[in-house]
Parts: sequence; C-alpha cells; structure tokens
Amino acid sequence: MVKLDLTKVAPVVEAAEIKELCARVEKAQESLEQGTCPGNDYLGWLHLPSSIMPEFIAEVKATAEVLRKECEAVVVAGIGGSYLGAKAVIEALQNSFQWLTGDGKNPVILFAGNNIGEDYLAELTAYLSTKRFGVINISKSGTTTETALAFRLLKRQCEEQRGKETARKVIVAITDAKRGAARTCADKEGYKSFVIPDNVGGRFSVLTPVGLLPIAVAGFDIEALVRGAQDMEKTAAQPFEENPSAQYAAARYALYTKGKKIEILANYQPKLHFMAEWWKQLFGESEGKDGKGIYPASVDLTTDLHSMGQWIQDGERSIFETVISVEQPEHKLLFPSDEENLDGLNFLAGKRVDEVNKMAELGTQLAHVDGGVPNIRIAIERLDAYHLGQLIYFFERACGIHCQLLGVNAFNQPGVEAYKKNMFALLGKPGYEAETKAIKARLGEA
Ligand code: PA5
Repeated sequence: MVKLDLTKVAPVVEAAEIKELCARVEKAQESLEQGTCPGNDYLGWLHLPSSIMPEFIAEVKATAEVLRKECEAVVVAGIGGSYLGAKAVIEALQNSFQWLTGDGKNPVILFAGNNIGEDYLAELTAYLSTKRFGVINISKSGTTTETALAFRLLKRQCEEQRGKETARKVIVAITDAKRGAARTCADKEGYKSFVIPDNVGGRFSVLTPVGLLPIAVAGFDIEALVRGAQDMEKTAAQPFEENPSAQYAAARYALYTKGKKIEILANYQPKLHFMAEWWKQLFGESEGKDGKGIYPASVDLTTDLHSMGQWIQDGERSIFETVISVEQPEHKLLFPSDEENLDGLNFLAGKRVDEVNKMAELGTQLAHVDGGVPNIRIAIERLDAYHLGQLIYFFERACGIHCQLLGVNAFNQPGVEAYKKNMFALLGKPGYEAETKAIKARLGEA
C-alpha cells in the first residue's frame, strides 16, 4: 500500500497539528460521501474503482484488441483530463526507449489534440503517412478546440490512407452519451464509442475508458490498475490514523496555512515525469480558485537538482516538497569495477545504480529539510499497474478532501473559459461577434 511519511514536515508543522485537523478532515470526507459538498454532481469518481464491472473491462479489452491488431500506431486525441492520465500511466509503465525501439508487439501510442503547434501536427501527420494508424478521440464535452482540430486532421488522413471502411474500425470515440460534436460524429460514422459518465469530471476520469482504453491498447494490465485503485478506495474508509490520503490532505492544509503556498512534487524515476503532469492538473485545476490554492509544481530528480536545486535549497521559503519514491526498480544494474579507476568511482563498484539513486534521494531530503523545506514522502513498492492504481486514487481522494478544507468547488474550472472566449473572439467564431468587436477595439484594431 502507498506509504506516507509526514515526520519531516516538522518543525513547520508538528504531528499534533496534523492530528488536530482530523475532525475537519472527517467532516470533509463526510461531505464527499454524502454528496453535500459544492460540485456534488461530479462525485462519480469517489466509488468508481469499486463499481467497475468485469464485463466493462472485457469490453475495453476487446476494443483495445481490435486497435492492437489493426494498427502500428494509435493516436490518442485529447487534452487536460482527457489526456494526462493515460499519458502518465503509459509513460510510467513502458520501456523508456519504446519510442525508438518499438517491440513489434504493441502499437506505438502517440498523443495529439493537447496543443495547437503547427509543427507538431505537421510532423505527426508526416510520421503517420507510412503507418497503419488508428485514433482514439477523447473529449467529454465533445467540443474542445485543440482536440477537435487534431481529430479533423487525423480522421481525414486515416480515411485517405486506410479507406473509409477500415477507418471506421480503427477510430474510437470516448465522449458524452448525447451531447457534443464528438458524439454526433461517432454516431453518424458508426464508430465504436464509450461514454464518459456525466458525474466524472475530466481530471478524475483516468479509471473510465478515457484512461483505460489507451492504457489497454498500449498493452498494460488495466485489471491490476483498477485493483490498485480499489484497494486504495478501501483505505479511504479507514480512520484518520490508517488513512494516507486523509493524512496527506491534512498535512498539505496545515502547511498551506503556515504560508507554504507551493508544493513541489519530486520523483527520482524519469518515468514518473507525466505522473507529475497529471498530478499538477488534478490539484491545480481543482483547487486553484477564489484566490486560493496551493500552486502545484514538479521536478524530476536528480536531473533538476542541477537546475532547480539551488532555488529549492535556498530560494524564498514558500515551498514544501512531496517526494514519490519507488522502492524496487524493475531491472538490476551494477556499477562495474575498473582496474585503472580513472574516474575515481571504484568505491561504487558492485553497488546497484538504485542504491546510488536512493542515497541521492536521502541526501537531498536531508539537505532540503535543513534548508527549511518541509518534506512529505510517498513510497510505493514498484512502478507497476497495481501500485499506479493506488497512487491515482490516493491523490484523487486527497485532492477531494483538500478542496473541502479550502472551501472551494473541486469539480469546476470556470477560469479556463477566459482564454477560450478571447481566442474565439480573435478567430471570429460565429456567435462571438460582440466579443470580436470588443477585443479588436481593445487591441486598437478597427
Ligand atoms: O479536468 C477537466 O475537466 C478538464 O481538464 C478537461 O478534461 C479538458 O478541458 C478537456 O475537456 P474535454 O474532455 O471536454 O475535451
């Protein structure tokens, strides 16, 4: 199970102060469980893991099998919560050099619809021009511009390269049951489709087809992922002392009220880079509102000790650090002995690379604590689907609780609309005539 160590948030926050928050955390948990919190029509994630049925997993796996059989590459089109969960899990589980070597057994999984970079899309379409590829089009609203733009290009290319009949087989839609352009298109074209439950918001949707289908297409064990989340869901029903997500939420809140406004999520495994991106979205979009919220940042260590290490050690003391530590690597690699010892590294001969990494982790933790950075440590046994499932639910639950402590609606994102309104006005989208006029005047254009 996820192991949480809060001993090093002291002296900024003492253990007793975290314990004192127990009653408030329990109240927060109650408001989630009883659906009395703000945004209570988006609580479908709360007991999602335990509600996943074997028939549903079988349907996801059967669809994944079709894509695996028919495609050398599968492009997942989606943004935000319709992208980051799948990306995080796939990156964490796959060989770091999969993109170079390919293993012939699994299709290459690519992501699009999460930016509007012309070069990115041009280079993607060029790469796909010689590939038997398929597309998973993911959008809950079915109207998100970035995703819709990429899907328009990919659909056309897939049909041109593979013919309309085959394209129909290798394009899958994951969207709302009734609303949105992605639904209209899927129904009209006769694509296989999955529904994103109404009561599960994007950033809480990795355990719906949004995450599960791409992860299954990549060849990973979605049953183990779900099992991990189910086991963590059980611990969320335990009393505070045995409930890591509740304790993590309490520690964050205590740190926040002591002026620690930035949380830096650190990992010592490059494969966890996108897990941090997923985590940033989960917490950032959920709690950054009404002038409140911890700013979620991340670093990959030890890499970023040579870029951000100085700031963390010595910069403004408004931060705390949360480390995800993986106890057991999948591979074993020893440093060799060298007769000449020109690099002076013979003191490490015979040691595992991971032992050096763990000492770097411990040394960094002690240094940062000495530098006034409270430290939270989250350890998982291995980087496998089961433990990632635990980690996902752990963070979701902690996020839900922390938002109640802050008094914000965890499940909306009104702030995201501002850029869209301006972009549509600038692009002259029909229906935005008044906004177009206003923005042009603001920019000094006629
Ligand atoms: O968490 C969220 O709700 C958002 O980040 C959405 O996932 C993101 O904006 C994409 O929306 P959609 O799935 O409607 O395309």
